[in-house]
Amino acid sequence: MDDDLLDRPAPRRPPRTLGEAPPRDLLDEAERLCVDELRALQLTRLRATLRHSYDNVAVYRRKFEEVGVRPEDCRSLTGLTRFPFTTKDDLRDGYPFGMCAVPLSEVRRVHASSGTSGRPTVVGYTAEDLSHWADVVARSIRAAGGRPGQKVHVAYGYGLFTGGLGAHQGAERAGCMVIPASGGMTERQVRLLRDFRPEVIMVTPSYMLTLLDEFERQGADPRSAGLRTGIFGAEPWTEGMRAELEDRLGLHAVDIYGLSEVIGPGVAQECVETKDGPHVWEDHFYPEVVDPATGRPLPEGEEGELVLTSLTKRAQPVVRYRTGDLTRLLPGTARPAFRRIQKITGRVDDMVVLRGVNVFPTQIEEIVLRTPGLAPHFRLRLTRGGRLDRMTVRVEAREPAGSGAGGTAAREAASALVRGVKEAVGVTVDVEVLEPGALERSEGKGRRVEDARDR
Ligand code: DLL
Repeated sequence: MDDDLLDRPAPRRPPRTLGEAPPRDLLDEAERLCVDELRALQLTRLRATLRHSYDNVAVYRRKFEEVGVRPEDCRSLTGLTRFPFTTKDDLRDGYPFGMCAVPLSEVRRVHASSGTSGRPTVVGYTAEDLSHWADVVARSIRAAGGRPGQKVHVAYGYGLFTGGLGAHQGAERAGCMVIPASGGMTERQVRLLRDFRPEVIMVTPSYMLTLLDEFERQGADPRSAGLRTGIFGAEPWTEGMRAELEDRLGLHAVDIYGLSEVIGPGVAQECVETKDGPHVWEDHFYPEVVDPATGRPLPEGEEGELVLTSLTKRAQPVVRYRTGDLTRLLPGTARPAFRRIQKITGRVDDMVVLRGVNVFPTQIEEIVLRTPGLAPHFRLRLTRGGRLDRMTVRVEAREPAGSGAGGTAAREAASALVRGVKEAVGVTVDVEVLEPGALERSEGKGRRVEDARDR
């Protein structure tokens, strides 16, 4: 190791502390099942879902018939692999209600995904679907460390996005007081956090960083707000970010996963007593991981694309939905019957191929967060110079250049980051260290990549 590395101050990483498991009487019945009982329940529910989808949704009937399978052909859970995948395009083609499996008069609510490219995808819920959703989010809140009687500040956006209302109804179901702050109006959010002193916050990790800046601007110590549990999701975030958020807020940071096409938040939740990746709530959602290129199912432990089948949804069941999210299936720990997913690395389409090397923004996030002097605010700008693609990491310094060693510190941080990326990812990037506050802040899902290659 060179002297330079030895001289560098250790990264700010507190030892990871774990929280307390919920008492047994706060576990749902499904959380107490043994694996065999869970598998039997899944098979019954899976067969009913396949039947319901085939009987009531023309797209499923056509797709099943195209590959020559009928719902009754699924006699075991592995039999599901004979059924065709569902993709975002199927949902888009059916816009708005073509994938609905019940009369519209039975649908009590719709949500929709943002639809940055083309038509949005619409998802409907019956009253029973909404109730199951509230159950899994309530279970997630308890697994994260939230308890009945606590206050939950919801800073996920309310509206067609599933984050706000999904978190909201789950927190109510968990017996908590909800503060429905939604996204935005950052100054007021921080005022509410300081005055109401909620124990739990549910928010994207990138908007949490924006809220942390605002605490600072108001001259308040975020740790003094008394938050104990942060339930962060809707975008990829890393162990480095967990350390950053836990350190600055003095809370337990845990991961919540979900997607609107399947239900919204609450498909999987990390348990605070282990913090080792989200457990999939398998009584409602059946997970598989497949090779993203071939669709071939992969064994437990191998990385690929997560595929989900809903087991209880009535309004809009999904059969083998290709999530686009990259992860691996792992055995259950805190809830032994439920499998875990590894913290999501990114989406198949988040991957940047830079001179033949695959790069995920989460890899850069890990390295930025362990580089002394750099703040967690960064963007990856892609440009094309001649025939070569270049990536510039535009990242903020923790301290203004005017303070202390200023410019020298920024230059050192930049070269440490270049070295770190080269060693860990194997590509050479350019780095621009910016003044604190230079980059636009997120109010919801953050955007890490600016692709200027086509301009
Ligand atoms: O983001 C649902 C949600 C709301 C989850 C609040 C958690 C908290 P969509 O807008 O449909 O739904 O986006 C779903 O976001 O396919 C992933 O790519 C990404 N995503 C969601 N949760 C995580 C997470 C909501 N914990 C898409 N880690 C998914 C990494 C996540 N990526």
